[in-house]
Amino acid sequence: MPVITCIEDLKRLAERRVPRMFYDYAESGSWTEQTFRENTSDFEKIRLRQRVAVDMEGRSTKSQMIGQDVALPVALAPVGLTGMQHADGEIKAAKAAEKFGVPFTLSTMSICSIEDVAENTEKPFWFQLYAMRDQAYLRRLIDRAKAAKCSALVITLDLQILGQRHKDLKNGLSAPPKMTPKTIANLAWKWRWGMQMLQTKRRGFGNIVGHVDGITDPSSLFAWTAEQFDPKLDWAKIAEIKDMWGGKVILKGILDAEDAKMALKVGADAIVVSNHGGRQLDGAMSSIRMLEPILDAVGGEIEVHLDSGIRSGQDILKAVAMGATGTYIGRSYIYGLGAMGEAGVTAALEVLQKEFDISMALCGQRNIAGLTRDVLLVPEDFAGRWQ
Ligand code: GLV
Repeated sequence: MPVITCIEDLKRLAERRVPRMFYDYAESGSWTEQTFRENTSDFEKIRLRQRVAVDMEGRSTKSQMIGQDVALPVALAPVGLTGMQHADGEIKAAKAAEKFGVPFTLSTMSICSIEDVAENTEKPFWFQLYAMRDQAYLRRLIDRAKAAKCSALVITLDLQILGQRHKDLKNGLSAPPKMTPKTIANLAWKWRWGMQMLQTKRRGFGNIVGHVDGITDPSSLFAWTAEQFDPKLDWAKIAEIKDMWGGKVILKGILDAEDAKMALKVGADAIVVSNHGGRQLDGAMSSIRMLEPILDAVGGEIEVHLDSGIRSGQDILKAVAMGATGTYIGRSYIYGLGAMGEAGVTAALEVLQKEFDISMALCGQRNIAGLTRDVLLVPEDFAGRWQ
């Protein structure tokens, strides 16, 4: 097993092992990728306060997200086509998450279905939902998540239509991949991926194939989202979906203080400050920059989580110290999965926990409760004056 010291190590391995079309899918932002880049570079602008001569013994990284115990304030974010990064990818990632003690969120656009993940795990996972035009299908998805005993519904609000990622168009992204000469040439180098993929039946979109009609090409993410996702989604519909579900609801994709207030009004249990990993509105602010204005707007009345840009334990620490109750990792675990399957996801979580734990100690803190704004050095103009 290679020595893994940081998420970047897993990323390099994943790039070698995962077919180009799927590596690129995860690694892309929309259009110029400005927001995608700033999600990570804005974290670098925040510094940590080094403190010395404090007792560092008896540390804990444990916390809670929506009342559930977590070993680290991290959940695995919903990521489309996870089962194309590695055979049975969603099952592998969910298993790693449950053993580690953090929530796994299954994407609507997964390869393994809700039932596949439920049958192969012990603990409840979270299900991420896109609002669909077809009301019967929407209701069936919700009922399937209930039957699978999912413990939270994560409703994504920032993808009613799909942002353009140039590489996906150039690569002809589909699941399973279409056998063009370019794909065949690339797959020849990815023998490990291919051998594992041949041993599973799960190679299409598990939550749609056999569950919904009227899609011109069920292997195409573009066709599926354009034909099925409801562009008319509004706050009334969100309230309706919340009632249909009847359990804990997390609203993902909030990047504006006004929207955060609406989420509060609708009675969500938590919001996720997110720009979808820079994959939707290019030119939007980074998530970490919008965290404080959103926290101010909701005034502690709702749990605020953050995703987009987390690549290290220090990033998690910065978000938590700024006021986020928890964070989500997408690419950081996807690299691990593509690199080494379940063991790679575990490796990613271990790297993040170690970085978080040691950084917390060197900031003079022993647990999450000690992580306040006081451990950070934030430049005066970090939030900026934008009008
Ligand atoms: C789906 O969530 C995507 O960003 O492609």
